[in-house]
Amino acid sequence: MNDNLHQLRCFGCGARIAGAEAQPDFRCAVCGDLFEVEYPGWNQRRGPDRPNAGALKWLWRERRCSAEALDHSGVWRFRELLPILDSFGNAVTLREGNTPLYHLTRASKALGIDQLFAKHQGMNPTGSFKDTGMTAAMSVAKERGFEWVACASTGNTSAAMAAYAARAGLRSLVLIPEGKIAWGKLSQAMDYGAVTCQLKADFDGCLRLLTQIVKEAPIYLLNSVNPYRLEGQKTPAFEIAEAFDWNVPDHLIVPGGNLGNSSALGKGFREMKELGLIARMPRISVIQAAGANPLVRSFATNHGSSLEPVEAHTRATAIRIGNPASWRKAVRVIQDTGGLCLDVTEAEISIAKAELGSEGLGCEPASAVTLAGLKKMRANGDVAPGETVVLVLTGHTLKDADYTIDFHRGTLLNPEETSGLESKIEGLRRNAVSVEATPEAVLAALKGSA
Ligand code: F0G
Repeated sequence: MNDNLHQLRCFGCGARIAGAEAQPDFRCAVCGDLFEVEYPGWNQRRGPDRPNAGALKWLWRERRCSAEALDHSGVWRFRELLPILDSFGNAVTLREGNTPLYHLTRASKALGIDQLFAKHQGMNPTGSFKDTGMTAAMSVAKERGFEWVACASTGNTSAAMAAYAARAGLRSLVLIPEGKIAWGKLSQAMDYGAVTCQLKADFDGCLRLLTQIVKEAPIYLLNSVNPYRLEGQKTPAFEIAEAFDWNVPDHLIVPGGNLGNSSALGKGFREMKELGLIARMPRISVIQAAGANPLVRSFATNHGSSLEPVEAHTRATAIRIGNPASWRKAVRVIQDTGGLCLDVTEAEISIAKAELGSEGLGCEPASAVTLAGLKKMRANGDVAPGETVVLVLTGHTLKDADYTIDFHRGTLLNPEETSGLESKIEGLRRNAVSVEATPEAVLAALKGSA
């Protein structure tokens, strides 16, 4: 199956354009909505002309042992399902993807769900799921001859973009909200040589400004409004299906910020089903922070038919987004799969993060919303004990070490936020202690922690 032909289809009005005809802001010229990549060749491959699912599955697995650099990427390993380049030789890769799927032994016991797993996308080269999308869209930027690329970011997109731009030999521009991104992420953009502008604006303001800039200068926009980003970000769906021997889990739980990731994973599962690689879609649920929950509000007030932007506040800075660009796509994924959309408090996020940490699985606060959301769903009876559940952990714990240290020191949350949860939080805190440099003092500290 090598239908190396794609086009862009407007998610709003259905208008179709060639890939290279997209406006610099990736908005439809007719209705202003976003595009999705579509492969017209696939529609002609129905019935006996369908790709041989068994052969594809075999090929993708074989590539894991291949000597070919492209095959070492967990994104390009599946390149038959993302033929977006004229030549795969233009792919810019850091060997992203192929991330681990861990069984959560303690959380599964505590929640009474035996089959509970975490797909850790923080184990990508720059420490977040953004790498899978960036390899795809950066490759397009390179193939189309751009010299500059840019993004607005809460931190992870900029880290990924800066790294992949450096690999591709392109220059990169980063717009970030001043004082509102974690240091680990800011340091990455600097390290990889981006021009980093800190603006007195929130993420939504940064993205608005960048949308104007790309209309005035030949700079390629790499936010998730760029539909090629989502083509890369759909591939963890393939990895998850493969890990379960193509029997998909019952339920996938994803954090929601700008809502590109949930949209991409939904597209990945939908395409696998259309191509006969899997028999059904998992439910896909999206969890937001309570202070940055425009999609939750949209479902609560009008079943996802319109969205009112909010002013976003959460310490999970990665998802501090009030006006998510891909909300319509995410609504479709949630509705098509029977998923849920709910929010969790700052205290619930911090507890879930510490619980994951105590299983040896560090992650960003934004990733921990998934476990916090699952706990809520279990309590409400929305997830049955027999379900197979996968949490998508989106970022590495070292991205935001300040958050973790503040939690363990007891300085993260205020009393209003912790009210009723004090003992739970106390039980999870493991602050570093100052101890005299003698064996007796260290052994006494051990006893004290028992
Ligand atoms: N988790 C992490 C760690 C993130 O960095 C993001 C988004 C999300 C979840 C939400 O994903 O936006 O696709 O719904 N970070 C973006 C950034 C916005 O600029 O790095 P989403």
